[in-house]
Amino acid sequence: MVNKIAVLTSGGDAPGMNAAVRAVVRKSIFHELEVYGVYHGYDGLQRNIIRRMELGSVADIIHRGGTMLQTARCLAMLTGEGQARAAAALREHGISGLVVVGGDGSYRGAQALARHGLRVVGVPGTIDNDILGTELTIGFDTAVNTVIEAVSKLRDTASSHERAFIVEVMGRNCGDIALRAGLGIGAETIIIPEVPYDLDEIGQKILRGVKRGKNHSIIIVAEGAGDAREIGARLHEIAGVESRVTILGHVQRGGSPTAADAVLATRMGAKAVEALMNGESEVMVAAWHNDIILRPLDLAFAERPPFDRGMYDLADQLAI
Ligand code: F6P
Repeated sequence: MVNKIAVLTSGGDAPGMNAAVRAVVRKSIFHELEVYGVYHGYDGLQRNIIRRMELGSVADIIHRGGTMLQTARCLAMLTGEGQARAAAALREHGISGLVVVGGDGSYRGAQALARHGLRVVGVPGTIDNDILGTELTIGFDTAVNTVIEAVSKLRDTASSHERAFIVEVMGRNCGDIALRAGLGIGAETIIIPEVPYDLDEIGQKILRGVKRGKNHSIIIVAEGAGDAREIGARLHEIAGVESRVTILGHVQRGGSPTAADAVLATRMGAKAVEALMNGESEVMVAAWHNDIILRPLDLAFAERPPFDRGMYDLADQLAI
């Protein structure tokens, strides 16, 4: 029986992580469990920075970006020694269940803790939307909205100056932010790691647009698909159009969660507590067909999540 639960956030922060932490804490207290917050991700866990959480510990955070528990990318958690230290810290507090809010790298740490006898549940928190088995990850919707807002501002200046803008967005090896934002803002071209691209063709497309009177172009590049500066320089050579490169960077990770992310995070955090109460372990919560379900944790590293080719083709068809 799990009666002491801890929650940590790990990896890159994502808007909505706070809402997930709040849900874990309040749902646990509702069910009369003791709940603890681990600060600074796995790094803090190894250093035993663990504090008892009360209802008020998570007051006024549901709408805030970042993570009140803070986060880290912790290499030591890849080592047997680090994992043993982390498990010992939890045991010292009598904690037997851990909720890990983060990406697939963070789930590897959770799996290691399961080998030390702890019950672990993953909650997908990453703006990249790159976790297999869940249709959405916490923070993705907010990041897409941030990109759309930024690109619509760039569009104003792009059309005033008749320029092409190459906009690099985050997403490591996953083009979902670029794809969703590109479709939502009507980008002329979306360059993502999942689809091979030909810069000559893209250059010709820009030229066709210029010929029919278009006064700007927006090219969204996912960071994993190539260097935006090099792509910009090459397109300038091919199409001869004046261009500028904007790298949106970490602005995409900040800001208040959208309503969709705050609700998703809240439902996922609560589901994680239910899972631990029901004796589950090595599972992750997942958004699936408008429901929140449980999936095996190792599914997250089984393969890359499927890419929505239909959405990509639609964006392409509409940007002729
Ligand atoms: O995984 C989330 C993410 O924002 C990726 O999109 C990006 O490549 C990476 O984190 C950046 O990591 P860091 O904040 O460590 O530079």
